[in-house]
This record gives sequence, C-alpha cells and structure tokens, in this order.
Amino acid sequence: MNKITKLVILLQLLICLPTLVWADELDDYKLFSVGELWDDDRGMHINAHGGGILFHDGKYYWFGEHKGREDNAAWVGVTCYSSEDLYDWTYESVALSVEEDPNSEITAGCLIERPKVIYNPTTGKFVMYFHLELKGQGYKAARVGIASSDKIEGPYSFIRSCRPNAGVWPMNMSEEQRASTITSSDLPSEWNEEWRDAVVNGLYVRRDFQGGQMSRDMTLYVDDDGKAYHIYASEENRTLHIAELTDDFLDYSGRYVRVAPGGLNEAPTIFKRKGKYFMITSGCTGWTPNEARLLSADSIWGTWTEHPNPCKGFKAETTFYSQGTFILPVQGKEDAFIFMADRWQPQYPINGRYVWLPINFTEDGLPYLLKYDFWSLSDFRSKPDIDLNEEEVIIKTFPQFPGGDKKLYKWLGENMKYPKDAIDEGLSGIVFVKFMIRFDGRIDKNSVRAIKGKCTRSMIKESERVIQKLPRFTPAMNDDDEPVDCWLILPINFSL
Ligand code: GAL
Repeated sequence: MNKITKLVILLQLLICLPTLVWADELDDYKLFSVGELWDDDRGMHINAHGGGILFHDGKYYWFGEHKGREDNAAWVGVTCYSSEDLYDWTYESVALSVEEDPNSEITAGCLIERPKVIYNPTTGKFVMYFHLELKGQGYKAARVGIASSDKIEGPYSFIRSCRPNAGVWPMNMSEEQRASTITSSDLPSEWNEEWRDAVVNGLYVRRDFQGGQMSRDMTLYVDDDGKAYHIYASEENRTLHIAELTDDFLDYSGRYVRVAPGGLNEAPTIFKRKGKYFMITSGCTGWTPNEARLLSADSIWGTWTEHPNPCKGFKAETTFYSQGTFILPVQGKEDAFIFMADRWQPQYPINGRYVWLPINFTEDGLPYLLKYDFWSLSDFRSKPDIDLNEEEVIIKTFPQFPGGDKKLYKWLGENMKYPKDAIDEGLSGIVFVKFMIRFDGRIDKNSVRAIKGKCTRSMIKESERVIQKLPRFTPAMNDDDEPVDCWLILPINFSL
C-alpha cells in the first residue's frame, strides 16, 4: 500500500490574529515562479528570450533575445543580465547590438535568436553564437552568427556569419549516402516515406555541401575536456547536427555528426551527468508548444538513443506550454540541472515568459520534468513529488488530525513559536507548507517543505520544524476504503 496521490487540499490555519497584515519591508522568500512575469533590478520584466546562461567568476550571466512589442525581429540585439543566486537578476547591458548600417548582416530588423555565450580560457575571449536570419528574408538564410568580446557583459563584436561545415561531410554519413545522386527533383511533389528516406540518407546534406549546412535553433556546449560544440537544427529543421569547434571556439574543426536524421528536432538543449550526455529537444511547430523529446548517448558523437517524452503530468504534451532553450548546471550542487524554456507570446513577444524547471532523475538515471508553479534551489536536495510508477488514486476521505481541524489549529498554535527576528522587526508573513501523510497516518518528515511564501526565512524554518512534529493522522482512504498516502498543503499565517 504505497500509493501516492496528486490531490492536494488546503487547510486554513491562523496564528494570532486572523487578519493578515503585509509589512512593506517584508522580503519575499526566494522562489522561482514558473511562467510569471520576472522583474529585474529595475522592476522590468527580464527581456532575454531563447537564452542561455554562463557562470563566470562567481556570477551567472544570462544572455537572450531582446524582444519588442510588435514583432519578432531584432531591433535591439542580445541582452545580458547577471545574478549571484539565479533568483534576482541585474540588467547589465545590450551585449550585442544590431547595427544601423543597412548592409550589415545584423542590421536592425534582422532575426537574432537563441544566443549562447561560452568562455575560452586560452584566448580569454567570450564567444557568442546565435541563429541569424537576414533582414526581410524570413527564415530562409538559416545562418549562424559569431561574435566575441573581452568582457563577459560585452560589448560583443560581430565577427561573421556562415552556414557551418561547407565542403565537409558529417562523420556518420556513409560513402553510399555521400555518393548518392538523388535530389529533390527525383522525388514526388507530395511529402511521403520516399522523401523521408531521402532526407535520412542525406538529401539536404548533399544539397548544401558546397555552401554549408543550414543552421537554425541552436545551443553551445563545452565538455569537461574543454572542447566546445555547436548543436543546431539543420537540413530544413529535419536533422540536428553536433559540430566541434576549433580550439579558439571561433570556427568549426570539421568534425561533426548528424543526430536523429529526419526526426524534426528543434530547440536543442544538452547536459552531461555521470558521464552520459542528454539532450532535451522539441518538435517543429514554430511558436506553438509541442511535446519535448529526450535523447541520450555515451559519447557526444553518438549513438544517440531516443526516449519517450521527458515531461510527466498535466500538459506534458506541450512541455508545460513551453519550448526549451538551455540546460543550466547549478554551481556547487551535484546533480542539479535547470531546464530553461520559453513560453512564447508571438503576438506580443516582449511578454514571453520563462519556464524554468528542476530536472529530476528516475532510478535508471533518465531525466524527467514535472510541472511546478513554484520551486526553489533547495528542492534539489529532496525527492521528487511523484513516483512515476504509481497510478493516480482517488481520495474518498482526507487525512484527519485526531479530534478534527480545530484541534489541529490548536495544536499548531501551541507548538509554533513566532520567530524572534520577525517580532523584533514587526513582520507578518505567510508560508505554504506541503507535506505527505503516509498511508499509516504518519507524517513523512522528508516530504515537508515550504513551497511558496511571503515571509522571513525564520518563518519557513519554524513552519517546517513544527509540521515535521505533527502527531499521527487518521490516513486518507481511497475508493476501496484502503488507507493511502496523501499530500496536504497548509498555509500558515504569521500575523502580529
Ligand atoms: C521555433 C523556434 C524559435 C523560432 C520560431 C519561429 O520553432 O524554436 O526559435 O525560430 O520557431 O517560428
């Protein structure tokens, strides 16, 4: 009897006076609010879409697309924000500016998407790659732009754009595929299996061999050995390429592979855990979210194995209404990776939201994502909420504190101490604590955690301390009158 329910109920607990008084000076306890407006130090919604983060000299730097109100074109460039804790971001600058010169490839009104920055310790330069589309040409150009700077926050100087790997064959394309003479004019006018086979067998690689391979959605990755890779949606978005960069990160070494040929993967993100590489990508439906894909490999060159959708639960088929852009390893924490995604708003791009989620791992070491509305870095130490192998359970009766709710409130009131620092500063607050009552009525001490709050840290600590001490409940019952595990959320008001 070890079933877990996702059903959560709310109980109301008031300590001291029932009215909640917000104190102006009260600091928010730091939490990531998934998909909400996210203010920078100036009180403006962070404008860094399709971005990526580089950790350097004790700080995180977030680079992303500056988006305007009306269209998706680049009228400003690539923005840069910095943070020491990942919650609070300071606006730094426009790291790469579009240019006024109408002949420049990055003239205002071009498309600059998915910028990523890496640091080269040998040259001391910061190197930026981004997806570039030339002004007025839609998504036809499919080029990569390269820029560099001596300072992380910029300004970055635009070096050049190109289509990668002109005149070079992918390492994993056979002699037969290279020599094939099939072109699109040999194929039927309607898309069908024959087309798919031709794409899988390198139709577009051959077509673009001289001029270079198409490069749209992209990310950069620096491996433990210092080698850097550009990973991009190529071949009309049908196949991903992973291309090694030269030692200065400013060019291609000529070594590259095709990944999931014909698989229509976009929005590549990558990380490495325990020697294994993982990519989370999306399908190709433009700004409309779709189901994420998961791939894994023992070497960056593959073979890449495809796995089922890594998102679980409500709206998993839309990646929780988002599309990935980067996976950030959290500094100083083992196995702590954040999946960064965009919730696009194509009609009003500046209002696009950020969906950041902690990556969980199954016992077999496969990453998966759950939808949280709020979470914090401290969640990385606790177990995930849902055992993926458990079926959902309908709760007939909820856990009962001995003697009922009134007794529960009384018990909490008697055991909770109003934190001294909050009394001294005259602070009120609220903490939402989530915890599990197991099927035998015991509280699962490891499950107790504050999930949301406007409060002091001491209020969180005190709430968690007291909830962990709760006496045995009468457990929840399912439809068959069997006792089952059940999650509860208890809002705890501290009011002076
Ligand atoms: C998405 C892509 C975005 C943007 C968009 C344009 O699939 O991931 O970066 O290019 O298409 O429709």
